[in-house]
Amino acid sequence: MAMVIWVLLVYLLVVSVSAATQMKVTNNPADELVAVLNANRTAHKSSSLYDNPGLACIALQYIKAYKGDCGAVGGPDAKKPADSEFVEAFAPNCGIQVSTLSPITGRLLGCETKYVHAAEAFSNILIESSKSLDILYNKNHTEVGAAVSGSDGGSPYFWCVLFSGGKTNSSFVAEGGVVKITRPGCFSGADDECSGAYDWSRSSSVWACFTTALIAMGFAFGL
Ligand SMILES: *[C@@H]1O[C@H](CO)[C@@H](O)[C@H](O)[C@H]1NC(C)=O
Ligand SMILES: *[C@@H]1O[C@H](CO)[C@@H](O)[C@H](O)[C@H]1NC(C)=O
Ligand SMILES: *[C@@H]1O[C@H](CO)[C@@H](O)[C@H](O)[C@H]1NC(C)=O
Repeated sequence: MAMVIWVLLVYLLVVSVSAATQMKVTNNPADELVAVLNANRTAHKSSSLYDNPGLACIALQYIKAYKGDCGAVGGPDAKKPADSEFVEAFAPNCGIQVSTLSPITGRLLGCETKYVHAAEAFSNILIESSKSLDILYNKNHTEVGAAVSGSDGGSPYFWCVLFSGGKTNSSFVAEGGVVKITRPGCFSGADDECSGAYDWSRSSSVWACFTTALIAMGFAFGL
């Protein structure tokens, strides 16, 4: 009997591990945003852009530079982080080699108090004027990075897309090849699972839930 239960538990473990690994990529609003953006570009006969995780991590740092101030994103009080911030703060925070930073060829930035899904953020927040469409279809872009973050894990929500004309495999390269994952917020290109709406913390909930279930089963079967 104990043997049967043991086999069952091992089987359950294997099933949940493979389910967890397959969930990646799909569960990240920044990855979804890049997918929507590239679909729109290709439908417009523009090239599909490489989703560079280093550039995307920098897009998340770019959001953080606004310190939750929606009013500084657009309108009369619009502000923009200084170019020096890329070298002094954004790249180091992401573990990006400063020598691999490439010029930014465009940016789309939006802020909303309400959380919306990626497709809606793209159409209703980021592309709100024909000027934005010019930025979207600019032929000088070769790569893209997207990020989304709430402020202190809640409203307002910032969306940022940065475009670059850099060489896809030699720009925004991380030391040791792995971009530092920072929270709160999600960024594209890193195969990093990051939940959509309200929980920006790293997803350990699947494991917490599974472990709890395992312990509960242990008690139930008196293992
Ligand atoms: C691309 O997105 C813009 C903004 O949402 C929209 O107006 C346009 O119709 C889209 N183009 C295609 C080809 O889907
Ligand atoms: C592309 O880059 C070139 C060289 O920097 C510049 O002259 C041109 O205006 C850019 N094109 C667009 C559409 O921004
Ligand atoms: C980078 O890309 C270029 C052109 O696409 C290619 O020739 C080169 O081999 C690539 N380098 C690496 C390290 O992948």
